[in-house]
Amino acid sequence: MKLNATVHELIGASVLCWLATADTDGFPNVSPKEIFAACGDDEIIVASIASPVTAANIAANPKVCLSFVDVFRQKGFKIKGLADSLDPSHAGFAARAATLQALAGPKFEITSLHRIKIARISRILAPSYSQYPETDEAEMIASAYATYRVSPVE
Ligand SMILES: Cc1cc2nc3c(=O)[nH]c(=O)nc-3n(C[C@H](O)[C@H](O)[C@H](O)COP(=O)(O)O)c2cc1C
Repeated sequence: MKLNATVHELIGASVLCWLATADTDGFPNVSPKEIFAACGDDEIIVASIASPVTAANIAANPKVCLSFVDVFRQKGFKIKGLADSLDPSHAGFAARAATLQALAGPKFEITSLHRIKIARISRILAPSYSQYPETDEAEMIASAYATYRVSPVE
């Protein structure tokens, strides 16, 4: 399964993702991650900075689901796949860590990351888009600005 340009663009526009994992008994765990990116067209990478349960679950059970939403456009994607964890001893670590380090800035050193090989991708849309087909993005953005009491920086 490949990421297309729309998914790439929305990853860049989404401030947070939510990474869901499960332990060997199937108990779910979900937590937010800000430092995440696409790596090529078939992988998502996530910084493992302060997420011990996520890391332990991935070690025990690689099946994960990651979702992200552009809160202004109110659109996003849900990605399911198989995850593993890379540390500096892994040959693929340095290039991926550099991508995440650029997002994190100097405050956090990326010493571990999760790599998610993408199996399935599906859209997430606010219900207004499906239930009121005349809804357009500009209207949703204006409504989100009002909800969050923010306005765009000129
Ligand atoms: C806004 C926000 C962004 C975060 N970004 C990350 C991140 O990129 N990587 C990380 O490991 N933890 C991040 N965290 C911290 C974890 O979500 C948090 O420590 C959580 O309790 C970890 O839970 P877990 O061990 O069940 O995954 C972030 C938390 C918040 C509130």
